[in-house]
Amino acid sequence: MKKLIAILSLALLPLTGFASGAVHLESADIDLTDDAAMQRGAKYFVNYCQGCHSLKYFRYENMQKFGLTKEQIRNNLMFGDGKVGDLMTTSMPAVEAAEWFGTVPPDLTLTARLRKGGADWIYTYLTSFYKDESRPFGVNNKLFPNVGMPHVLMELQGVQEAVIEEDEHGNKHVKELKLVKPGRLSVEEYDQLARDLATFLTHVAEPVKLERQSIGIWVMLFLLVFFVVSVMLKKEYWKDVH
Ligand code: HEC
Repeated sequence: MKKLIAILSLALLPLTGFASGAVHLESADIDLTDDAAMQRGAKYFVNYCQGCHSLKYFRYENMQKFGLTKEQIRNNLMFGDGKVGDLMTTSMPAVEAAEWFGTVPPDLTLTARLRKGGADWIYTYLTSFYKDESRPFGVNNKLFPNVGMPHVLMELQGVQEAVIEEDEHGNKHVKELKLVKPGRLSVEEYDQLARDLATFLTHVAEPVKLERQSIGIWVMLFLLVFFVVSVMLKKEYWKDVH
């Protein structure tokens, strides 16, 4: 019994989240049943991100899962003459990209699972760009210092500036970000856009998450029933053995 408790508590340890990262992540508060959010996220992705980033483990046609028809996908979300069954690659040549950005823009299919915090990480990243003339593209990122990515959504978000704070050892770090020049969207609208992209990228990272969770509940119920039956059987078998 003691062993069982030890194993169980070890298994549950990661859920307690005791090892949280240093940088505070904003809560994206995404809803994976919100088809409209994923559809908007997909539209933003093909328009603003796919020029550099691929989703090379995800097919266009998989977007039917959140309510789009093949025609809508082909007409609104695909450029050129690919097929809806194609993987979402990028036309960005890797060698040139490495030259331009110092690094190749990574494939984003699994980012929501690789980055600790998932959707919250992506949401915080997209809202954390700020003006920094010392960087090649004139921007830096509070969550991802010295990032190689330009702030491609600046026209929509506007320009943020960093309030720098110095600690007792003279190390400077970004305390907070202030919007100094509004973009085409209001703060709420831009946050919604970042949330939509985070929702879409979280779906892409694990399209079957909702099914997995609902099947999981049935599996646990089955195991419970099976456990009761096996205990009763065991009692029945052993009742005459002394
Ligand atoms: C002009 C090219 C370009 C565009 C367009 C672009 N990115 Fe990036 N992105 C990059 C580069 C380059 C990096 C790698 C940064 C680094 O490692 O320093 C990056 C990194 C990232 C990362 C971090 C990945 C990780 O885990 O390290 C995320 C998330 C991301 N981009 C999301 C987006 C989203 C969402 C969009 C669309 C709104 C977008 N990017 C548009 C070039 C681009």
